[in-house]
Amino acid sequence: MKKKGLEYYGDYYYCRKMNDYLREVKFRIGNTWQKDNSIFLRSLQIKDALTSYKWRNNPEVWKHTQNKPDKFITQDMETSWIKGVLKRKNEKRFAICYQGRYIGNIHLSNIHHTRESSAQVHIFIGEPECWGKGIGTTAINLIADYAFKKLKFCILYAAIDRKNAASLKAFEKAKFIYLFDMGNERHLMRVR
Ligand SMILES: CC(C)(COP(=O)(O)OP(=O)(O)OC[C@H]1O[C@@H](n2cnc3c(N)ncnc32)[C@H](O)[C@@H]1OP(=O)(O)O)[C@@H](O)C(=O)NCCC(=O)NCCS
Repeated sequence: MKKKGLEYYGDYYYCRKMNDYLREVKFRIGNTWQKDNSIFLRSLQIKDALTSYKWRNNPEVWKHTQNKPDKFITQDMETSWIKGVLKRKNEKRFAICYQGRYIGNIHLSNIHHTRESSAQVHIFIGEPECWGKGIGTTAINLIADYAFKKLKFCILYAAIDRKNAASLKAFEKAKFIYLFDMGNERHLMRVR
């Protein structure tokens, strides 16, 4: 299946030509300057723990999130955590990749298969130097496309700390609309 700037490969979407979202990035391979703006989601893998355990130990990443690690997370702890979550039937976990590099996680939780199937979206980008480049917005759009078009879901929602300006803006740019505030959290929703 091919769509404008978006190709579907088995279990994940591959996204190129994201000039709407990304600044043009140049990087050097050998002696030639190449351009690569690609962002894609792929299934999360157990070996991703070797990278993501480092992100767990950066408090800056978890500043505005509910699940803050309260101790040092080792590779083994992260590996057994990923093994556990990949077995959950009501979740779908993806790695966010940018320029071929694994940089964060995005997932659907609380998947309810009813007539109006729904799920909650969660995201983090573990590499702070990748923030503010439009990657979060693109990743949310990609998982929404997967949920609405492949899984035929009707509703996606998110609960975000009201102080998390970057996350609120990324979800709003990805067409999530304001529902209500409860305590410190803002609830947003996108329908198919
Ligand atoms: C939240 C997060 C996923 C957003 O991803 P991202 O790639 O940085 O988001 P985007 O670049 O697509 O969009 C962020 C927008 O917020 C803006 N923004 C960033 N920091 C901001 C701030 N402190 N105040 C206001 N706006 C801010 C950016 O300028 C951008 O808007 P623009 O495109 O109009 O310039 C990422 O920052 C992250 O992983 N943060 C740490 C973990 C986290 O908070 N996860 C979310 C839990 S709900």
